[in-house]
Amino acid sequence: MSFFEVKNIYKSFGNAQILKGINFTLEKGEVVSIIGSSGSGKTTLLRCLNFLEFADMGTINIGGEEIYNAQKNYNDAELRANRLHFGLVFQSFNLFPQYSALKNVQLALDLQTKERLQKQKASKAELKEALAKNMQIATDLLEKVGLGNKIKNYPCELSGGQCQRVAIARALALKPEILCFDEPTSALDPELTGEVLRVIKDLRSAERGMVIVTHEMEFAREVSDKIIFMADGVIEEMGAPEQIFENPTRAKTKSFLKNYVHR
Ligand SMILES: Nc1ncnc2c1ncn2[C@@H]1O[C@H](COP(=O)(O)OP(=O)(O)O)[C@@H](O)[C@H]1O
Ligand SMILES: [Mg+2]
Repeated sequence: MSFFEVKNIYKSFGNAQILKGINFTLEKGEVVSIIGSSGSGKTTLLRCLNFLEFADMGTINIGGEEIYNAQKNYNDAELRANRLHFGLVFQSFNLFPQYSALKNVQLALDLQTKERLQKQKASKAELKEALAKNMQIATDLLEKVGLGNKIKNYPCELSGGQCQRVAIARALALKPEILCFDEPTSALDPELTGEVLRVIKDLRSAERGMVIVTHEMEFAREVSDKIIFMADGVIEEMGAPEQIFENPTRAKTKSFLKNYVHR
């Protein structure tokens, strides 16, 4: 049994079948990169894994526990609890413009703390102490992504690369076991991609697994234990980076990689 098991995921929008039976596994500490042409279903897959969409069929297991089964119904509380296993970093950062970098990172932690302490009928002093702790956690995370000197800045005062690093710190705040990235550098100027890719590379850790949708082939090759090549809603080919990049076996993989080199 693997730590993270994605089994037989199907998803349609209207009559269009977008995901047609996706199966893969991931261990804690491992990185899988998903590559493939635009429209092949990569974002839809990540959204199903994070319960931003609901797969029509299939199951998702973490640590031996079934956290999603398309045949079951989940209430809001269950969904929120299940979402906590995951963090997602979007292509377009999705930061709150009205909040500082620090507040962007701290926000979800604070909401969680307030809910927990309200249930426990905690005192104001206890709440204050817990929120101060959150601020320290958020500050440390921003340090970790190299933004210790920008915690008070607002998104509009930061470069795209810096915004994306805030978004990464935010995704880490609730300690997800599976951290997902959807083309984290696609919206960035080329000179800013390096700083974000370096941060992502440093996040490789025994504490979590990572699923990275990317068009950065060299990066994917360097950072990943496994590469998934998606085409038309299926995993066309999956394997070690050396195998996929040096000896792809499927015609579609070969053609995709060839186009990449020639771009
Ligand atoms: N909410 C939606 N409603 C209808 N069609 C969608 C929706 N989201 C994605 N699609 C379609 O699903 C297909 C796969 O999209 P997507 O998962 O974004 O692919 P990728 O990320 O690989 O480019 C596309 O044809 C897209 O138009
Ligand atoms: Mg996409």
